[in-house]
Amino acid sequence: MTSAAGRTGRLPREREDHYMRLSGAQVVGTKALLRVREDIRAAIEAKAMICVYGRTGHGKSFAVNASLRELAPTRTHRIQFRARPSTRDLRHELFHALGLHGRPPAHAIEFDRMLRAALTEPRVLVCDEAQWLSKLCFEYLRYLWDDTDTDTDLTIIFTGGNGCFEMLQSEPMLESRVYSWQEINPMPMEEVLTVIPAFHPVWADTDPELIATCDREAAHGNFRAWAKITHHLTVGMKETGRTTVGDDLLRWTYSKLSTRTRA
Ligand SMILES: Nc1ncnc2c1ncn2[C@@H]1O[C@H](COP(=O)(O)OP(=O)(O)O)[C@@H](O)[C@H]1O
Ligand SMILES: [Mg+2]
Repeated sequence: MTSAAGRTGRLPREREDHYMRLSGAQVVGTKALLRVREDIRAAIEAKAMICVYGRTGHGKSFAVNASLRELAPTRTHRIQFRARPSTRDLRHELFHALGLHGRPPAHAIEFDRMLRAALTEPRVLVCDEAQWLSKLCFEYLRYLWDDTDTDTDLTIIFTGGNGCFEMLQSEPMLESRVYSWQEINPMPMEEVLTVIPAFHPVWADTDPELIATCDREAAHGNFRAWAKITHHLTVGMKETGRTTVGDDLLRWTYSKLSTRTRA
């Protein structure tokens, strides 16, 4: 079944955005974050639907959450899926994410009326891991967004793996309504070398050549991989009493990563 992460339907606390709440981690202004923030700003202004997509670990959810904390902290509602929901599941998820009171209506018509009425207030809806949504669920969200009868004031941000992009693209009804598409790619080496030293104190004084090697051999511009390596590294440094990142310790952290991350 489905479940919204953290505080039901609300933006998570800032610390929770960081992989395993990595202590000492900073929010860094990656190109992805800056582009997403601009797209979201424009989407809110236009009350549009947008899509932020790309492979896992590239910083999509982080960028969306950080941007919304700044742009629309009180009117953001999040739904997130870990399995394929039915439209019934989706209605319930929306009911909870929008903080509606009482019991969810038993009949679809009544449920739709209630959701549409709630959406006349300005809201930003984030659908994370949207690759799990079926065509019917996308259609349902489009129906709520497109509702001319009740004059809804809704911005929708679809975030997810490439499946989300493909599904939206494959339906002309949906594709034509998506205001902007933002693909989040791995950070290029040049960006890694500026972003990583600012990300965590352990990297601040590390030889850039070592950071470059780590990216080539293990992280491949994937931010989650960098966060994971940093986590192992801080544990390793604590255990061994070291204060600087050395080649041997770094290689020890690689050994903890799955071959998939390393590939
Ligand atoms: N701009 C950023 N600043 C700091 N850490 C980041 C940033 N972007 C991503 N991260 C780190 O990378 C991890 C993975 O990012 P996330 O947004 O969850 O990826 P995705 O949603 O694309 O799978 C985050 O939990 C966080 O630790
Ligand atoms: Mg994500």
